[in-house]
Amino acid sequence: MRTPFRSKIAGIGSYLPKKILSNSDLEKMVETNDQWIRERTGIERRHLAAEGEYTSDLCLHATERALQDAKMNSSDLDLILIATSTPDQVMPNTATVLQHKLGISGIPCLDVSAACSGFVYALSVADQFIRTGTYKNILIVGAEILHRMVNYKDRETCILFGDGAGAWIMTQTDFDSPDGLFSTHLRANGEVGDLFILPAGGSKIPYSQEVLDKGQHYVMMKGREIFRHAVRTMTECCQLALKSNSIQSEQVDWVVPHQANVRILDSVAEHFGIPKEKVIVSLRETGNTSAASIPLAFDMGVREGKIKRGQMILIAAFGAGLTSGSALMRY
Ligand code: ACO
Repeated sequence: MRTPFRSKIAGIGSYLPKKILSNSDLEKMVETNDQWIRERTGIERRHLAAEGEYTSDLCLHATERALQDAKMNSSDLDLILIATSTPDQVMPNTATVLQHKLGISGIPCLDVSAACSGFVYALSVADQFIRTGTYKNILIVGAEILHRMVNYKDRETCILFGDGAGAWIMTQTDFDSPDGLFSTHLRANGEVGDLFILPAGGSKIPYSQEVLDKGQHYVMMKGREIFRHAVRTMTECCQLALKSNSIQSEQVDWVVPHQANVRILDSVAEHFGIPKEKVIVSLRETGNTSAASIPLAFDMGVREGKIKRGQMILIAAFGAGLTSGSALMRY
């Protein structure tokens, strides 16, 4: 939609909990080994939230850094969006908890549930509000404490996931400004929604002793099938972003994809026709942090001096649902 405005990033920040779970730690917990995990996933370690540390706490740390980067105060915010599949509790939403921890009140607060694509979905929601002139400054946070939803007896899932948070402050800029968000594209394919699930805790399977006995409070995954879908959907989303903006892949400086498996990232780069060196990879340090993975990877790319202001950035995500999405911007 053509309006006088578009959105742009005013500030970014991220947070990783201090505790580390390495591949060699996992060797002592399940039948696996460092070499298998590195070769099949690219992951070397993941960060785990401490006891008494909640998703809203991770959000708070990342938000404080993003506000500092944006040279703003929490009172400047008009809306809080949190992308997460691991909220503090079912209700109230984690965005309201974060609002309180930020010492502000009154502004609307919304959790966005789209699994690992959640951050791109939240970015798109923020963009619509900013383009229409409804809100000027919007906080979006991707945050997860996935390790509490993982069965440490299931070697196929427990090696993959970690905790963390990443925050962006999106602000309004002129539509004709050279920087900012050009487009977002969101998709979902519910017919393959059973490939990655956490069955219990909703209205279908409320908590009970049987749930605990069956382990239905843990994530369950068909990894090989997800892999196949992930490569195809992320490649399609990237192509859609470029086509709708009449941009060639050579004009993209960095691709910041959801960090699930380094082999997925390599395949997407190959299918998309972009050098692997242009893909930001942070999963060695973080594992798969679901909705937090894109802002964490972006922040890492900036801090390592790779991503710079003025560069063309393509973001791509996929997750349970199977949801997917992309965003194209000049940072
Ligand atoms: N350590 C050692 N061996 C293992 C492990 C492990 N941790 N896990 C599985 N294996 C074994 C399997 O049992 C199998 O043994 P077999 O040949 O004797 O049957 C063998 O390794 C190969 O198993 P595959 O499933 O074929 O392994 P694959 O190469 O596909 O890797 C993996 C598995 C890493 C899960 C991969 O499929 C993957 O990353 N898929 C995507 C997962 C994902 O992204 N999940 C999140 C989804 S959405 C979101 O991001 C929230």
